[in-house]
Amino acid sequence: MHDNIVLIGFMGCGKSSIGRRLATRLGHRFLDCDDLITERAGKSISAIFADEGEEYFRNLETEALTDLRDRRNMRGISDSRGIVLATGGGAVLRPQNRDLLHDIGTVVWLHADADTLFERATRSGKRPLLEVENPRTTFNALLESRLGIYESSSDHRVDASGLSHDQTSELIFRTISGHSGESSAADPV
Ligand code: S3P
Repeated sequence: MHDNIVLIGFMGCGKSSIGRRLATRLGHRFLDCDDLITERAGKSISAIFADEGEEYFRNLETEALTDLRDRRNMRGISDSRGIVLATGGGAVLRPQNRDLLHDIGTVVWLHADADTLFERATRSGKRPLLEVENPRTTFNALLESRLGIYESSSDHRVDASGLSHDQTSELIFRTISGHSGESSAADPV
C-alpha cells in the first residue's frame, strides 16, 4: 500500500492548484509532471510542442512517469514523504502510462463541467493543443474522446463543479479516506 495520490483529468480541472492544497493537507510533497518535463527539457511545454512535436512531448511524459515510479533522477522524491502528483491531461492516453500511474499511487480523476474546463483551460494561453483556430471544437472533441479513459483509469472520481479549490481538495481528502463514495458538488464538504 502506498499513500501517494495521482491526479488525472482534463486541462483546466485544477490538478495543480488543488494538488498543491491536497499535498499540504496530507503532509505530502507536491509534484507536477509538466513541471518535471519543463525542467528537464529546459523549455516550456508550448516550446516543446512547437519545436519537437506532440510525440516527443509524450515520450518525455512517459520518461518522467517511469522515473517517478522508479524513484530516480528526481530531486527529493526519495524522501520518506508521500507525493501528490498532478499529471498533464493527456498522460492517461498511453496504456503504458496508465499502468505507471497506478504503480505510483491511488488515481483520482478530477472532473468539472465542460464550460468550466474550457474557460480555465483557455485562460492562460499555455495549452498548445488548444492554440488552434476553433479551440471550442477541438476542446469538445478531445474531451469526448478522453472521458471514458479518465473513467476507466481512475480509482476515484471527484467532481469539482461549483467548488472552490479548497473545497475540492477537502472533498478529495474525504474521498480517499473513505468518508465519501462517488463524489460530487452535491456531497456535503
Ligand atoms: C495536455 C495537457 C497539458 C500538458 C500538455 C498536453 C493534454 O497539461 O501536459 O499541454 O494533452 O491534455 P494540463 O492538463 O495541466 O493543462
